[in-house]
Amino acid sequence: MKIVVVNDYEDLSVKAAKVMLEVVRENPYAVLGLATGTTPLGLYAYLIADHEKHGTSYAHIRTANLDEYKGLPASHEQSYAYFMKKNLFDGLDIDPENTNIENGMAADEQKECARYDALLEQLPRDIQLLGLGSNGHIAFNEPGTPFGSGTHVVSLAESTVKDNARLFSDISEVPRKAFTMGIRQIMQAKKILILASGANKADAVYKMAKGEVTEDVPASVLQLHPDCILIADKAAASKL
Ligand code: F6R
Repeated sequence: MKIVVVNDYEDLSVKAAKVMLEVVRENPYAVLGLATGTTPLGLYAYLIADHEKHGTSYAHIRTANLDEYKGLPASHEQSYAYFMKKNLFDGLDIDPENTNIENGMAADEQKECARYDALLEQLPRDIQLLGLGSNGHIAFNEPGTPFGSGTHVVSLAESTVKDNARLFSDISEVPRKAFTMGIRQIMQAKKILILASGANKADAVYKMAKGEVTEDVPASVLQLHPDCILIADKAAASKL
């Protein structure tokens, strides 16, 4: 794992945008694996600013998102489909038809997981962007998830529900289940970019990058990927 430590969140976002833009400019038909959450917001703002200023086009780019809450429709303000539209896709010239995410409203969970698995087979990702959970999760693969997992439905860890409650008006509104891409599929990406910001991620960053490779710390699997870059700000990297 290549580790890049930067001063603060601003630097992290600039550096992350550079890595993503290299992929997009090199291959206008690239497939991007994308993440939601607070961490990539700065990066997404830079991608939109670059598109407006330099005209970098996403007309032929395809995307696959990591995860979606179960029970929330794409029109729900807290759904990840809505998040992506608002924070990235609406600011680019991307064709909505080329963007993919699990359907949180799918009546048949198993069918939806199989649909997404098949789709990911057709969409080998040139780069996979990841955030890091404070408990070491990647996507919604919580501690204990087998490294060989494909798309599945998870019950969110209590710590994840608490971490995500800030985005809802009340913790009781946070969905307890989600669809998530599996660890096997994350590892299939040609390149992985994982971002970590803030002191509350310091333990997870240490365990991911320097600890034992174990299913108890899902992100530790990234030590086995041949082209993985971690960009962490000083606070998140403080225990390295
Ligand atoms: C989001 C996702 C999650 C987040 C992680 C960190 O699609 O899959 O794994 O990346 O929970 O979230 P933030 O960035 O909000 O700290």
